[in-house]
Amino acid sequence: MATPASTRVMKTKIAILALIPAAAGVVFCSSARAKRPVPSQQAPATSSTESTQSVWDGIYTPEQANRGETLYAQRCARCHGPDLGGGEIAPALNSAEFKSNWYGLSVDDLLERIKVSMPQDDPGSLSRQQTADILAFVLSKDGFPAGKTELAREAEVLKAIRFEEKKPQAAGDVETPRSLDGAESQAGHGGRIAVANEHASSVQFFDLATGELLKDISTLKRPHEMVIDREAGVAYVSIAYKDGPWDQYESPGNQIQVIDVEKMEITSTIDISPHWAPHGLALDQKTGLLYASCESNGGEVIVVDIKKMKVMGSVRVGVPHPHSIAVVPSLNKAYTANKDVQHISVVDLKQMKLLKDIPAATGTDGIIATPDGKYVFVGNFNGTQLLVVDPTRDEVIKTIPFDLPPSTFALSPDGSKLYITFHDLGTRDGKQVLDQPGFVQEFDVATLTPEAKMEVGHFPLNMTVTPDAKTAIVDTTADGAIAVVDLTQMKVIRRIKTDEWPHGVVAF
Ligand code: HEC
Repeated sequence: MATPASTRVMKTKIAILALIPAAAGVVFCSSARAKRPVPSQQAPATSSTESTQSVWDGIYTPEQANRGETLYAQRCARCHGPDLGGGEIAPALNSAEFKSNWYGLSVDDLLERIKVSMPQDDPGSLSRQQTADILAFVLSKDGFPAGKTELAREAEVLKAIRFEEKKPQAAGDVETPRSLDGAESQAGHGGRIAVANEHASSVQFFDLATGELLKDISTLKRPHEMVIDREAGVAYVSIAYKDGPWDQYESPGNQIQVIDVEKMEITSTIDISPHWAPHGLALDQKTGLLYASCESNGGEVIVVDIKKMKVMGSVRVGVPHPHSIAVVPSLNKAYTANKDVQHISVVDLKQMKLLKDIPAATGTDGIIATPDGKYVFVGNFNGTQLLVVDPTRDEVIKTIPFDLPPSTFALSPDGSKLYITFHDLGTRDGKQVLDQPGFVQEFDVATLTPEAKMEVGHFPLNMTVTPDAKTAIVDTTADGAIAVVDLTQMKVIRRIKTDEWPHGVVAF
């Protein structure tokens, strides 16, 4: 793992770095920070004493930018381009996308991001002063004005300076106060959630900071799992079964619906026939390919080109109910967890063939791959161990014991923390126990050790982490609600009522 933990400067209890897409996860998450509708939707501040600066306030000097220019040429230009325009692998640092990635965060967040993860091949080698100087140069190139004072290197000062894409209007422009606790901090980002309610056949959109229902739209019968392409502002929802759960349904679905999350509308429906019962979804944003595990053809993985909205190919995995799916783009592999067979299926996405079955004696449930492609974590259907797969070898390299079956997963955007739901509390009279609270547990990926565990509500089916890594949204499906969890405290800070049986959930 390239996460340079030792270079982290933790000033407060709040994991500042968790805010920052660090090292390996970034391909997904930094570019994945949504393009947000901007300040108009922010609530006006009630008090004008909350005065923060923005990058428009002349926060560096021309001399400092000159010093930074020399350092940039030595340490950054070969990847990001001499004019900041980006290179073969490194993104531009002067694009609209770059600015929208950082919009709403502080200059300190950006400085920390550079300091701990750049230069990518020698992270942590720059001092804070050097980083501040380089940042001054980057800001000058991005069109932010110079001023009379140098950009400080102290975090306290830089935290009060907001990264603002557009120049604020002179009149009537009010800052949203940034509070650092819990969902409140989402306010500045306009954080939202979309939840697919399986039994109600609807998708609901909520404001994360207030819990307010923004919109409720109808979907085809029984929406199931969801994934989001934050960069494109599009979510995909699978229509798996029209009339029941995976082991009881009669008519399968054969669609994936496409949702514009800014407009909060279904914009199209991808017909995947002759394939059917698409269940788990995984997205490779880089290639624009969406993968779905399907029950057609004796169990298969299909590949959907999201630009053309067409199925491009399929690979038979030969299991009746391939359940959830994860992809490791760097290795061109997909993995399906299979509840009712004794193995995990591995698909070679380049050669489009089944590569291997990894034994998993008690069946598997959720599955997730770390953004750096180092691990695939697999939940357990009937056993209580978390399975850790090394995707370079396609073997279970470690099993981690819990007292309940680890069910489904979410990762922090940088891939450093895994969050596990435990919803399988056993059966009573032949029925799944739904009247006892389930759990969410944090798990440290670098050391593969379980951390804080909390009660979350009834039947936590699915979960997602917000782009700023501070908040998790957990379906508490049997409650017909979602729980908003402050991950810095591992505490439920809000419960939001949804329609019946919330299942897929995404945050943006
Ligand atoms: C060896 C190549 C390389 C060098 C040298 C390098 N970078 Fe990067 N940088 C990358 C890559 C690749 C990414 C995207 C993936 C990642 O962040 O890990 C990136 C991402 C970034 C980002 C995040 C962009 C965003 O939109 O969020 C910033 C900021 C950044 N680099 C700044 C710098 C600065 C400043 C320097 C010089 C001190 C530097 N980089 C040197 C390769 C490099």
